[in-house]
Amino acid sequence: MNESHILENTHKFVKQTLENAEAGHDYWHILRVLNNAEIIAQKEGGDLFTIRLGALLHDIADAKFHNGDESIGPKMARDFLIKQGVKQEIINEVVNIIKYISFKNSLDGNQNYGKALAIVQDADRLDAIGAIGIGRAFVYGGHKGNLMYNPHLKPVEKLDKTNYKKGKTPTINHFYEKLFKLKDMMNTQTGKQMAKERHDFMKLFVKQFYDEWGNVK
Ligand code: ADP
Ligand code: NI
Repeated sequence: MNESHILENTHKFVKQTLENAEAGHDYWHILRVLNNAEIIAQKEGGDLFTIRLGALLHDIADAKFHNGDESIGPKMARDFLIKQGVKQEIINEVVNIIKYISFKNSLDGNQNYGKALAIVQDADRLDAIGAIGIGRAFVYGGHKGNLMYNPHLKPVEKLDKTNYKKGKTPTINHFYEKLFKLKDMMNTQTGKQMAKERHDFMKLFVKQFYDEWGNVK
């Protein structure tokens, strides 16, 4: 099978698998990440086929929605790519992307970076910040039944992986615990540039939020 045929099949597979995913993590998220990854790769280079497969498959089975099991996503992707006849070497790199892309795994500090991972991770992080990031954070908070904000609950300064996974924090706190940090965690120069505008927009949003909240305690 040629590369464009494999990519087409991957689109179909991901669309089907994520059919019932919540709005922050659905097929549209995948398409936005793919688009960001292509933009970054245009400037930074890297193997486009690997990058596209990694972007398409990176959230195929989020551990959050599989009782914390982090081995399901990589396994589903590997099985699928073997069936598509993808070369072993590329499969390994794509599986590596899926394993190490997430914020919570980066909290462990055990990343194994190739260029494709660096680019897809930047692309995924860009979709967590800016106007879209704000939208996704509130969708996630609503899904979990979290508050938007509680002036008595301060953000947890240093979040470890267990704390992060609980995800019970008010959504405004999540900006301090994760979203404002992402700009400085970007891997590529292009990713850094793209993050800046989105970061500044979130800052403005949170400032306006506090202004409107006023002194209510
Ligand atoms: P990652 O895949 O990088 O580990 P997640 O899957 O945890 O990221 O997050 C997916 C989306 O949900 C992101 O946009 C993230 O900002 C948002 N999110 C995660 N945890 C929370 C939270 N506690 N409150 C609000 N939004 C959250
Ligand atoms: Ni993602």
